[in-house]
Amino acid sequence: MGSDSIYDRHHEVFLLWACRETGVFDALFAGYGRPDAVAEHAGITDRASGIVLDALADSGYVRETKDGYEPTDELRGFDPGTPPVERGILPHRVDSLENYIRLPETMRTGESPEPTEEGFKNYMGAMASIPDGTLRAIVTAAEHAHPRPERVLDVGGGPGRFSAEFARRGAAVTLLDQPEVLDLLADHHADLDVDVVEGDARQSLPAGFDLVFSARMTVSLSLPGIREYVGNVFEALEPGGTFAAAEWVRGRADVAGRFGVHMLSMSDVGNTYTEDAYRSALESAGFTDPEIREVPDTRFQLVVGRKPG
Ligand SMILES: C[S@@+](CC[C@H](N)C(=O)[O-])C[C@H]1O[C@@H](n2cnc3c(N)ncnc32)[C@H](O)[C@@H]1O
Repeated sequence: MGSDSIYDRHHEVFLLWACRETGVFDALFAGYGRPDAVAEHAGITDRASGIVLDALADSGYVRETKDGYEPTDELRGFDPGTPPVERGILPHRVDSLENYIRLPETMRTGESPEPTEEGFKNYMGAMASIPDGTLRAIVTAAEHAHPRPERVLDVGGGPGRFSAEFARRGAAVTLLDQPEVLDLLADHHADLDVDVVEGDARQSLPAGFDLVFSARMTVSLSLPGIREYVGNVFEALEPGGTFAAAEWVRGRADVAGRFGVHMLSMSDVGNTYTEDAYRSALESAGFTDPEIREVPDTRFQLVVGRKPG
């Protein structure tokens, strides 16, 4: 049963981290199931192997067989052969733990850890794992801000869950992201009913859209970067078009302060921003009536700006 005890709080993520770090997961994926074989393969003690395999079984990450243990589907995200978008949130949670452990150094130097190739894949897995209910609530809120959009630009669309939902609802969707994301997810994007374009939102955006949308994207930017981005959004919109960005706004979302620390731990830029910061960026770009709306039944807010018709 979960509690605030030191052996409950954070237990699972530390256990997963230690098992990944030592090679316990590699041993399991290679087919070693007996505790002594896992111990030998991972270079850990027999005592450690017995204890952690039991604990992994308690949490459903492995199951006991007549020959020892085997991984369950819950552990699949840690298998390097699992495609990024199918990895779920857990591997990124473990990467984040490593970033938090390194936070004192990041705070002293201003330099966040170099992202690894696997870490980048895990990050995309985490993005793809947004719950269906949250995804639909955000897209519905965007459609309330701009009913029945015909042409939608999803900026920083990443794995494309939002793009696919707009497309499912009848819009012609263009997903824009950075080249490294598009290269990694090319096969996955090819299966979606969306156009894909490469770009940097701070530099320029393609034009001709009635809704420019982004989710969890402006947190990756500095405040000057947000100003450049919304200036480009204004140019990308048709007259009468709408900008809608789903974010955690400081002072509105209880998680926003903590998410600022999360961005600090993982990236050299990025933060969460106040309502005033978003309003001022939108007004400077020429948007009228900037608003921050709550997205019902989620922790997100929708930052909305309108381009005059
Ligand atoms: C946290 S992910 C969110 C992905 C997706 N919108 C979602 O919510 O599932 C942020 C995305 O924004 C993209 N991004 C960050 N800065 C960008 C920029 N300057 N131009 C274009 N995309 C950017 C990243 O590559 C990443 O895919």
